[in-house]
Amino acid sequence: MSEPSRLLVRDLAQLVTAPLGASVPLRGPALRELEVVEDAFVLCEGATVAATGPMRELGALELGAVEELDGSGLCAIPGLVDCHTHPAFLGDRVEEFALRAGGASYEELHAAGGGILSTVRATRAGSQDELNAAVRSHADSMLRAGTTTFEGKSGYGLDRDTELASLEAVAAAGGVPTWLGAHAVPPEFGDADDYLDFALAEVLPAAAEVAVAADVFVEEGAFDVKQARRYLTACREAGLAPRLHGDQFNELGAVELAIELGARSVDHLEATGDDGVRALAASEVTAVLLPASALFLDRPMPPARALADAGAAVALATDFNPGSAFCESLPLVCSLACTQLHLAPTEALAACTVNAAHVLGLAERCGRVGPGQDADLVLLDAPDWRHLAYHLGGDLIAAVIRRGAVAWAR
Ligand code: NIG
Ligand code: FE
Repeated sequence: MSEPSRLLVRDLAQLVTAPLGASVPLRGPALRELEVVEDAFVLCEGATVAATGPMRELGALELGAVEELDGSGLCAIPGLVDCHTHPAFLGDRVEEFALRAGGASYEELHAAGGGILSTVRATRAGSQDELNAAVRSHADSMLRAGTTTFEGKSGYGLDRDTELASLEAVAAAGGVPTWLGAHAVPPEFGDADDYLDFALAEVLPAAAEVAVAADVFVEEGAFDVKQARRYLTACREAGLAPRLHGDQFNELGAVELAIELGARSVDHLEATGDDGVRALAASEVTAVLLPASALFLDRPMPPARALADAGAAVALATDFNPGSAFCESLPLVCSLACTQLHLAPTEALAACTVNAAHVLGLAERCGRVGPGQDADLVLLDAPDWRHLAYHLGGDLIAAVIRRGAVAWAR
């Protein structure tokens, strides 16, 4: 067998990561306690990190044949983990965007058969090849923004073939597939319960072969708590980890349901009040915050500071989708996290690396940089890693290393 290739990233201004020893997900003060190594190196062996440390410790290593990458003037952070995206769609919603700019609300458009259902029509009209190409292209955009691991939901098919094609497209692009079979009630079903009868009988068995999690949109005009409980319970029995879209517009009990079911996460939370914050903080459920979506829809921001202060596990994600968050950039989300959610840069980085990896069940492998972890790194052209959040919309990604190889460089 040939030796694995070795890549040495050397002379980095800084390397920042959550410590490997920390218990995951990070919460409370631990969410702020990242390790920063000045004048650092990262040695990758094959797809894995072999060693990290200050340059002065490099001499003690038996290097052998190694490819070198000059990190002078650059800072390294862990490859970013986007734990909530909706990349499996065709068409766009630019007309709706223009209508919203003129004052129409997202909920009105949804109720009038636009919104999610207009993307369902466009997605159903496409082929598996078109969906594969679309997800691949979105994954490439995410990669250029520093995302080395992404979750991707179905939810714009809502029929058997298109839902399965969506999950296959996410898997083919290297993503972690989530079956969002309960995103909206498609027009051929008069009623949410009838639709769930169909989805659970006809789609779940095959979806469970591809997906790792299941998700439901708990909202007026989508699914209520009772329907969500039925859907997620069946999905959990089929081996899928429960997740929920909850409290985006109205507090309908999604947080309590998430806790009752032992969900991996409850996502959005723009409408969550003090009781929900307290309940989440006392639970094992991660609160996934999506400030790009709140910004894009001009909605209130979620109570991130209260959640973090109360000791909740928080993660950040883009919510990339054509309607409520047409945004692939976790660096932009980090800027929003610091300016709108009042998280510290350290908290923002932990939330879209190690804690996001935890939501995907991958924290043993990714979201941190250290020996034995996947060799996923983002190199920032900045003197201090906090420029990640500080430089709003900045073009500061110099290179992205995924599984020990340079996947993108400018
Ligand atoms: O997370 N809220 C529900 N689902 C998506 C938006 C989907 C869409 O508008 O197409 C979200 O915001
Ligand atoms: Fe979403």
